[in-house]
Amino acid sequence: MRKFKVGIVGCGAIGTALARVLIKDKKLNFRAVLVAVADKDPKQAEKLLRRIGRQLPVISIPEVVKRCDFVIEAAHPSISSTVAELALKNDKYVLIMSVGGLLKFPFQKLRDLIAKTSGRLYCPSGAIAGVDALLAAQVEGLRRVRLVTTKPPQALKGAPFFKTHKFPEFKYGETKKIVFRGSALQASRAFPQNINVAAILSLAGLGPKRTEVEIWATRSAEVNTHEVIIEGDFGEIKTRTQNFPAPQNPKTSYLAILSAVATLRKAFTTLRLGT
Ligand SMILES: NC(=O)c1ccc[n+]([C@@H]2O[C@H](COP(=O)([O-])OP(=O)(O)OC[C@H]3O[C@@H](n4cnc5c(N)ncnc54)[C@H](O)[C@@H]3O)[C@@H](O)[C@H]2O)c1
Repeated sequence: MRKFKVGIVGCGAIGTALARVLIKDKKLNFRAVLVAVADKDPKQAEKLLRRIGRQLPVISIPEVVKRCDFVIEAAHPSISSTVAELALKNDKYVLIMSVGGLLKFPFQKLRDLIAKTSGRLYCPSGAIAGVDALLAAQVEGLRRVRLVTTKPPQALKGAPFFKTHKFPEFKYGETKKIVFRGSALQASRAFPQNINVAAILSLAGLGPKRTEVEIWATRSAEVNTHEVIIEGDFGEIKTRTQNFPAPQNPKTSYLAILSAVATLRKAFTTLRLGT
């Protein structure tokens, strides 16, 4: 059996977790081999290689795409659309973690790119539940998809939205405040680091303009909560995910890392459960 050559772009918390799985998981490394990594910070790449105990080439992103059959992007929303485009134009398989960055494409351009390639684009569910059911609901009669995200204010710090809007401050006795209400497309620009979940819902459901997003800041929460509400001919779905931060990177939900690993396993194993 031919082994897929895998390259990782972005050697942080998620990139390292996926590299570990590629090296250690027998079901996976039977079919896939990690051959190269890329990072804008060479020290990060060296750290990943030290952690997995391998000496692999650290190369540029175009070189990763050229050398590999399967590219993993776990870097930043500012480059995920470029990585996806480069990989798909070269008929490669690509797993995108910074899904929010894909909304930079006009939706039709992404569809055209997907239609013309013999590659594959994987986008994990990340830190939410309900994507499998949404994919089923989208087949017929899907009417409304809404994401309600609640975070402690410090998790929202640094978002471009606050260049033009006041950062949430709580009055005495106040515990919860709405910060943003708009489409997933608007949310992806206003909170690019926080909103991968809105992007995956858009791609699986009604698109970035029709997917509704609310972001709340709450004083009481130490964890991120994502509620997904889906309405259609099938009925109604409500899911609620309360996420603990990943020990390796408190800005990333632990479930997002697990979801990335599960997607990678699904890509390379025979049994593929879920929608
Ligand atoms: N889909 C989801 O649900 C989900 C959940 C969490 C995180 N993410 C996204 O996944 C990505 C990785 O998350 P993480 O927790 O591993 O982050 P991290 O900060 O731990 O690691 C990111 C790594 O990418 C590198 N990097 C950043 N910009 C780069 C560039 N332009 N070119 C090459 N390398 C670059 C950094 O140097 C760093 O080593 C982030 O974009 C994050 O938004 C997605």
